[in-house]
Amino acid sequence: MLRIGLVGCGHIGTVHSYALRQLTDAGLVDAAITSTFDTDPERAQRLAEASNASRAESLEALLDAVDVAWICTWTNGHLPAVEAAVARGLPVFCEKPLAPTLPDCRRIADLLGTVPHQVGLVLRHAPVFCNLAEIVHSGRYGKPMALVLRDDQYFPIQGMYGSTWRSDVAKAGGGTLIEHSIHDLDVINWVLGPAGSVSAHTASIFGYEGIDDSAAVRLDYAGGATASLISVWHQVTTRPSTRRLELFCEEAFLWTEDDYLGPLHVETSAGSETIEGRPPTWIDRLTVPEVLAKPLAQYAEPSKAFLDALVADGANARGFPGVEVALAAHEVVDGAYRSAAAGGGTVPLPTRPGALR
Ligand SMILES: NC(=O)c1ccc[n+]([C@@H]2O[C@H](COP(=O)([O-])OP(=O)(O)OC[C@H]3O[C@@H](n4cnc5c(N)ncnc54)[C@H](O)[C@@H]3O)[C@@H](O)[C@H]2O)c1
Repeated sequence: MLRIGLVGCGHIGTVHSYALRQLTDAGLVDAAITSTFDTDPERAQRLAEASNASRAESLEALLDAVDVAWICTWTNGHLPAVEAAVARGLPVFCEKPLAPTLPDCRRIADLLGTVPHQVGLVLRHAPVFCNLAEIVHSGRYGKPMALVLRDDQYFPIQGMYGSTWRSDVAKAGGGTLIEHSIHDLDVINWVLGPAGSVSAHTASIFGYEGIDDSAAVRLDYAGGATASLISVWHQVTTRPSTRRLELFCEEAFLWTEDDYLGPLHVETSAGSETIEGRPPTWIDRLTVPEVLAKPLAQYAEPSKAFLDALVADGANARGFPGVEVALAAHEVVDGAYRSAAAGGGTVPLPTRPGALR
């Protein structure tokens, strides 16, 4: 059985611990959390008890006692934890964003490139976006022309986000664009391929220095296609995080308002179709109320894929998505912030294979 060490026991650490415990108890993975560590010992203790695990006194003690490191600290804690885990040759699951700055993201990418790893860009496993990407890449509705994505969330330093680091640029690297919309920019990279350039406007309307709470990003593609992202942290605290994506291809309009199962709506001159995303076949084996099973499966499915790969392939395992995917999204975030800082002009993006023609 693979022994998992959970580093960082806050909001997402709790979600992972719950999802991993469900997978372990259902016999769906040959792995379990056996050790927890957090700079706040009470948090580590709480999740140790929830997982029948031990609380480690230090990061080093945890890493000496496990087979996989599951890194869920706030963003500027990822690099030191990755360095220590990789120094021991341990496989690593690392949450997104990789790090607050692009140079530190590159450092993490270099390190993680030497061990089996996976990053927490969970939308890569979301059935609705898998369906969208498959349709677009098949070319059956012609070329993509224009994509619009709106991502909104209440300012996440309150409510279920029980900590304030997201208002501290040194810890988070920025606001809604890097912290939440790294997911969106990755989905856009996936569906449309790498963009040629980016331009952006950002604002800190709630006044936290360096923390954008409103961002508008435009991506331009060779051949003329564009993608527009609006990313907002508001104060409608009763509203869940939501996304709405609309895409026009030459011969179809595709849209969704749900970032896990969809459905994905497809409208063409021949009529309309609704494509339901399918949750994992094993979802019924999770012993949680139905209302929790789907949100949990969003995290459980990518985690199970990584753990299954580690059990099957050991040191040769490849998790997905890996650092190359995350780094491509970080390059867009960095270009967008540079554009916004310089007044919104166009910033060229690094050339990557797979660009739209
Ligand atoms: N993939 C996703 O969908 C998703 C969702 C939420 C958060 N995240 C990411 O997960 C990370 C954590 O976010 P969160 O919402 O759980 O924050 P959080 O504040 O709730 O939890 C972070 C925890 O890390 C601990 N910590 C900080 N530095 C540490 C260190 N050096 N060693 C050990 N523990 C340390 C803190 O004490 C805290 O308990 C962030 O990078 C965030 O962007 C990803």
